[in-house]
Amino acid sequence: MAHYIGALDQGTTSTRFMIFDRAGHEIGRHQLEHQQIQPRPGWVEHDPAEIWENTLKTIAVALADTGLAPEDLAAIGITNQRETAVLWDRATGEPVAPAIVWQDTRTDYLVARLDASFVQDRTGLPPATYFSATKIQWLLEEIPGLRARAENGEVLFGTVDSWLIWNLTGGRHLTDVTNASRTMLMSLDTLDWDDELLALFGIPRAMLPEIRSSGEIYGTADAALPGVPIAATLGDQQAALFGQTCFEPGEAKCTYGTGGFLLMNTGTTPVRSSHGLITTVGYRFGDEKPVFALEGSIAACGSAIQWLRDQVGLFDTSEESESLAETVDDSDGVCFVPAFSGLYAPYWRPDARGAIVGLSRFHTAAHITRAALEAISYQTRDVVEAMAQDTGTSLDCLQVDGGVTANALCMQLQSDILGVPVSRPVVAETTALGAAYAAGLSIGFWKSLDELRANRHEDRRWQPSWTAERRTEGITRWRAAIDRTLDWVS
Ligand code: G3P
Repeated sequence: MAHYIGALDQGTTSTRFMIFDRAGHEIGRHQLEHQQIQPRPGWVEHDPAEIWENTLKTIAVALADTGLAPEDLAAIGITNQRETAVLWDRATGEPVAPAIVWQDTRTDYLVARLDASFVQDRTGLPPATYFSATKIQWLLEEIPGLRARAENGEVLFGTVDSWLIWNLTGGRHLTDVTNASRTMLMSLDTLDWDDELLALFGIPRAMLPEIRSSGEIYGTADAALPGVPIAATLGDQQAALFGQTCFEPGEAKCTYGTGGFLLMNTGTTPVRSSHGLITTVGYRFGDEKPVFALEGSIAACGSAIQWLRDQVGLFDTSEESESLAETVDDSDGVCFVPAFSGLYAPYWRPDARGAIVGLSRFHTAAHITRAALEAISYQTRDVVEAMAQDTGTSLDCLQVDGGVTANALCMQLQSDILGVPVSRPVVAETTALGAAYAAGLSIGFWKSLDELRANRHEDRRWQPSWTAERRTEGITRWRAAIDRTLDWVS
């Protein structure tokens, strides 16, 4: 058998291809960013053709840089930004519209009409613009003639995993159950597309991909890697859960990317949330029982830092956010609520918009930047609290990964605000690693979950340093800032 496994990680801001060896060590990678198209306030689009071109390039460059050939890869796994909706023409393979990205809020008026308890009961998801269903509905309603073509099976829908599998295999229309669980069209009980939901959103079944497990061979990636099997597909947050080896109920991880996503493995029975969390599929291998997860999704984490960098111009690189915020001891009462795409878990207020409160003439860019780092941590704390209420168990350590974990000050604040240790693994690219692990397991490259667990090594651990009093004060101020934000739109 070949010695390596590849992972294609198609995220919100970039596409990367990574190659891992049997010990889970990275052998090589290449990464390319794609355009964030924001034609109107609240709209966020991607060009599916650009994503596909970047996919081909990242794979080719990663192979060339490492001197490897396709036959050196035993398999690849795919992981992707979830919920983002791509529609394409079955005959030509051309996208019929820009992809509508998960952060896009243009469908808030469609969401407002929904019966929240019916949708949540059927799908495990509180209705929100975040999920794919209203994005597809919007495209079918807005593009003339599209619905008729979709009904005839001429136009296909997929989340980004489907779009990539279609292109890599030369026309297989598939998705995995973790991605399907984010569309708001799949029943959590049957793990199949739900006729009542399809009728509710006016979405023809003919345009939907077949739902498969997260770990099986879907075909070969011939367009990029001739003969190499695609042996796993998972949504990126589920892949990170797997890459962090959270295989037992109660184990949880938080990935800080564009958004922040805390997932806890809840075992083979779905746990319904009554505190604003999402019930989702964690992973499923072949015909085995699915493993479920509770998720707290946060719309803006790294994007809060990017916004201060790109739109406000407080610093030039994301790394500088740490050194700038370190120049002050605290945010001196400034709170930043980065509700650019509304507030997700546990609030679910798509209408919320961002706010910076508590400013005086004394405050500087450093205070505002520090408040952004604190906001990342307070939002995570809100989700951790909801999870404790839903499951009756509290975390004794938070496993973290994703780009923002390179910011040591932010991770220290996270530990201070949670009051528990925060642990970062040596391989911070847990999302890609999880996709590689799932692909390797499904072809027998790795034999067991224990073998994968033995590969996890801690790189750094942060211990809480705040007093309980300081923590309570901070949380109280944060909640007051959330209330102000919501007052603004109500
Ligand atoms: O649900 C959205 C999520 O999958 C996006 O993740 O890492 O691309 O921001 P990321």
